Amino acid sequence: MIENLKSFIDNNSYCKSFYQHIIVLNQVDSTNSYAKNLNEKKNGICVFSFMQNKGRGRNNREWHSVSGKNIYLSIIVEFDNQNFLSFIPLVSSLAVRNTVNSFNIKSNIKWPNDILVNNKKISGILCEAEYVMDKKNFCIVGIGLNINNTIEDFQLETKKYNITPTSMFLELSEITSIEEVLKKLLLEFALEMESLKKNGYQSIIKKYKNFWNERGKEIEVSLGNRIVRGIAEDIKDNGHLVIKSENKFIEISSGEIISF
Ligand code: BTN
Repeated sequence: MIENLKSFIDNNSYCKSFYQHIIVLNQVDSTNSYAKNLNEKKNGICVFSFMQNKGRGRNNREWHSVSGKNIYLSIIVEFDNQNFLSFIPLVSSLAVRNTVNSFNIKSNIKWPNDILVNNKKISGILCEAEYVMDKKNFCIVGIGLNINNTIEDFQLETKKYNITPTSMFLELSEITSIEEVLKKLLLEFALEMESLKKNGYQSIIKKYKNFWNERGKEIEVSLGNRIVRGIAEDIKDNGHLVIKSENKFIEISSGEIISF
């Protein structure tokens, strides 16, 4: 697979200018941890693994991994300002959403960066920023995308999530090539990154809102220490969620929608 991926990247101008190096592993604890521990980090290094033993999700959850059936990918993105960093999760979710849709599965985005198919979760993204004094800052974008998982594969994990999981296999009733999805995902990620740099934040927000799942719905958001209920009104230009609760508008920079 590695040779096919390399030649795909070499033959696509967007991929060629974004990706520096691709690492393919059979097994690892977590592709995000592996990327984080690389001595020399560079924009556009990516790490793919067929299996993770200690996959990590948002809010300290586990990301249960099944060998050889799904995508476990981390992409290193360099950033030099906080504003750019706050758009990386939005850009990543657009890339995953576009990828899933290109395989004839209608998906949309649950704020900030879950990908849903009929309210079931097909993909999750974990962005981890690293600040090193006097050195470049990097964000590790970790993408878990369920490709060929069956109902049985999900049995171990369904209890842990308040959202029902799904996979491309469950939606299409056929096996999909991991390599083909991975190529498309790498391309979409490079394209959306290019679009952020070229067209600016607003173009990303505009696209993001088109595919936003919760707009106008009554939702509950966990802020860690409390839960806020209200109507999902808007996504602001800075990527924050706005909900209307008891006639007041509340702007949320980070949290988890637990009911929608
Ligand atoms: C979530 O929805 O909670 C985010 C899940 C992110 C999982 C991916 S799989 C590849 C990368 N490596 C990890 O350990 N986690 C991310």
